[in-house]
Amino acid sequence: MCELEELLAVWLPRQRWFSGKGIPLRRLRILSRHQLLSAGPEGPDLDLLVLEAGQRGTTSRYQIMLGSRPPRTLPAHLARTAIGVCQVFGGRPQVVYDAAHDEELTALLLERFTDTEPGGRSEVRFRTLPGARLRTGAPGRLLTGEQSNTSLVFGRDHVLKTFRRLWPGPNPDLELNTALSGSPYVAEPCGWIEADLPGSPTPTTLAMLQTFVPEATDGWVMATANVRSLLAGATREREAAFAEEAALLGRTTAEVHRSLSQTLPTDVLSLDEISDLAEAMVERLAMATAEVPELAEHAQSVMSAYSDFSQVDGPLPTQRVHGDYHLGQVIRPERGWVLLDFEGEPTMPVQDRRRLSNPLRDVAGMLRSFDYAAGYLLIDHPGEPDLERSARVWARHNREAFCRGYADGGGIDPDKHLVALRAFEFDKAVYEVLYEARNRPNWLRVPLDSIASAVAASVPG
Ligand SMILES: Nc1ncnc2c1ncn2[C@@H]1O[C@H](COP(=O)(O)OP(=O)(O)O)[C@@H](O)[C@H]1O
Ligand SMILES: [Mg+2]
Repeated sequence: MCELEELLAVWLPRQRWFSGKGIPLRRLRILSRHQLLSAGPEGPDLDLLVLEAGQRGTTSRYQIMLGSRPPRTLPAHLARTAIGVCQVFGGRPQVVYDAAHDEELTALLLERFTDTEPGGRSEVRFRTLPGARLRTGAPGRLLTGEQSNTSLVFGRDHVLKTFRRLWPGPNPDLELNTALSGSPYVAEPCGWIEADLPGSPTPTTLAMLQTFVPEATDGWVMATANVRSLLAGATREREAAFAEEAALLGRTTAEVHRSLSQTLPTDVLSLDEISDLAEAMVERLAMATAEVPELAEHAQSVMSAYSDFSQVDGPLPTQRVHGDYHLGQVIRPERGWVLLDFEGEPTMPVQDRRRLSNPLRDVAGMLRSFDYAAGYLLIDHPGEPDLERSARVWARHNREAFCRGYADGGGIDPDKHLVALRAFEFDKAVYEVLYEARNRPNWLRVPLDSIASAVAASVPG
């Protein structure tokens, strides 16, 4: 192992976007290196590296933008991004760092899209979509927050989302955004970066360039602000105003689903396939119950919801869907809701994420998110029944408004498919239980309470 690989093996598992947390990293190697800038002895240099990380019999690929400069020349504001000092690719010792934070270097990424490389045969290619108008010159400012990837914002014009974990083939985020190009409900895609990587017959998407949507509020921020003000005694009118937003989000979701079904393949689930889906839900429930004993008291009722689902006599249409749909994936500029991040559930293998699915799975995802927005604020107020009641009413109103909007917008009427919707929602909540138990034990109450109240609501009398 060269020195740089050793440094990266320590640094990689500590990154927020590293998806194999908690499992020892056995091997790390640099799978490919693409030099984007070599500024001479004074630096800085910029390399795009693809790393291969081996953990317990599996290997995953990650992308990093590696900056390097002569030792002691790293600007003070970049000190915390340092990975270490080493000989980079056999050259002189350099300080290496995460270049996503270095605006001097990130500006270059956008400019590369406007280079016309004759032949375009390089291993790494910067591609633009027909008709895309790029405005270069602005530095790429790193978006901070709880993200699974790393996004850079260029002025008020573009966002470059660099995918951290890489999978062979086209990234679903790029695929779906391109299919939706021209829709007012997505951020217009402008281009992408792709690479030919060893062992992948098709190019791998490294990054996606989109139009930046300025002055937009995040759906999760809007929803939780609304719950917070309600709990602090705000009027019902304020709550009702958000329910209108929820209804509009439902309509927008239906429009996006319709566009996806018109431009990408669709199918219908056979009875056997529905039964297989239910079977997989049962397995996930068993796995979660084994790890989280609090789930056991509801397991029987959840199982019976899955059993009802396995007997649904169809037809259940399938199509490409968002796949990881929640309030944190939608933003609200003045023009209406805009959907982001069509990558699907990032920890799932990409071939599963690209599978056709019933659109109610996204509806269920958003319904869970309304429960989360209400339940999250109760974490700090245990044993306050009045607050709990208000938060639950808030969630119910917004869930209903969203479903109404979805049906009004031409989507499958969720009220007419309650058995499937319920199974999808339980399946998502069970996934959340496992996630919270592993990552944020003080949030565990949120999905557990939802399961408990859904179970209670289904018990006759
Ligand atoms: N085109 C855009 N315009 C405005 N904000 C954006 C845009 N794309 C992403 N963002 C902001 O960045 C956040 C993360 O983007 P997202 O695509 O969800 O990445 P991740 O996969 O890291 O979650 C979004 O929640 C949003 O706040
Ligand atoms: Mg996201």
